[in-house]
Amino acid sequence: MKGLILSGGAGTRLRPITHTSAKQLVPVANKPILFYGIEDMAEAGITEIGIIVGSTAAEIEAAVGDGSRFGVHVSYLPQDEPLGLAHCVLIARDFLGDDDFVMYLGDNMLEQGLGGFIARWESQHTAALQPALGDAPDGPTGAPAAQILLTPVPDPQRFGVAELDDEGNVVALVEKPEDPPSDLALVGVYLFSKLIHQAVAAIAPSARGELEITDAIQWLIDSGAPVHHDLLDGWWLDTGKKDPLLESNRRVLESLEARVDGEVDADSKVDGRVVIEAGARLVNSEVRGPAIIGAGSVITSSYIGPFTAVAANCEVTDSEIDQSVIMEGARIRAVPRLTDSLMGRDSEVTRGARRSQATRVTLGDHSTVELA
Ligand code: G1P
Repeated sequence: MKGLILSGGAGTRLRPITHTSAKQLVPVANKPILFYGIEDMAEAGITEIGIIVGSTAAEIEAAVGDGSRFGVHVSYLPQDEPLGLAHCVLIARDFLGDDDFVMYLGDNMLEQGLGGFIARWESQHTAALQPALGDAPDGPTGAPAAQILLTPVPDPQRFGVAELDDEGNVVALVEKPEDPPSDLALVGVYLFSKLIHQAVAAIAPSARGELEITDAIQWLIDSGAPVHHDLLDGWWLDTGKKDPLLESNRRVLESLEARVDGEVDADSKVDGRVVIEAGARLVNSEVRGPAIIGAGSVITSSYIGPFTAVAANCEVTDSEIDQSVIMEGARIRAVPRLTDSLMGRDSEVTRGARRSQATRVTLGDHSTVELA
């Protein structure tokens, strides 16, 4: 089984962060989102991974390398334009060969590992020989051509949505329907046999000009190929926007194991599930977990509250922060309280020495500031 990770998207909904860096490399608990997907695959025993890359290819390649540090081998598959998820399968044809593969959207984060999802697929394939199109066994008892992961959501309009019949078989899939046939959204993890290559070659672009993976799976269903589904266990987030990104950060921080490898001086206090990386320093400060402070960061006379990830080489002085993701090299000085915030690399928030109430900003395109 091979792995295909889709990391070509431009990440417009995470601007301005994504003007300068790939959305799949934004850190969650100080680790790029993309790494969680690679690690999930490695843990499930997948060693050959193809990553679809777009305009941020160089940055993704620099961060992931050849995959050896994850114990896998990574091939990069360039996509010139974001023409859809099924288009990614089309351009990965040579890399995938005739192998089964798991496809993972690079900005999705799941609590559950891939192990159980893949094990279910494999048990069905040993139970039945892989069907050829045309003589596929009817119904869900044959070896599946695709296996999807579904979960109920309050806002199915924002996702691909599955319709099940009375026996629980997937009978239809629609992409971002105005009038959803159910509340079961397609999670961004899919398993496919080689039959998907016929499907992606057969479908036409959707109204938004993309080759939709939902249309390709629908084509399989219409051709009589079994499409199975699993229901998701645990949480799942599509991290493409600030709020779900902060929520992923919260969820992952909650599962970290406390560890203090950096320096905590006698006037400082660390409370709860907190990671202080080697080379980080706490001076006259309090960190209340779950939180992580990256290597080389210096926290002075400050309070870092729950659900905060401060990346490497940041400076926080005379400030209070909680529920935030602070990226590498950022500086925060004399800020009474920063909350629900996402700060990009080398960005700065300070309080001026002048007595004026005025706010002075230098903001990149698509930045947001919400004043108290
Ligand atoms: C894509 C898929 C959609 C799926 C979603 C999961 O949507 O097209 O079917 O439910 O990922 O994250 P996109 O994120 O491209 O809008």
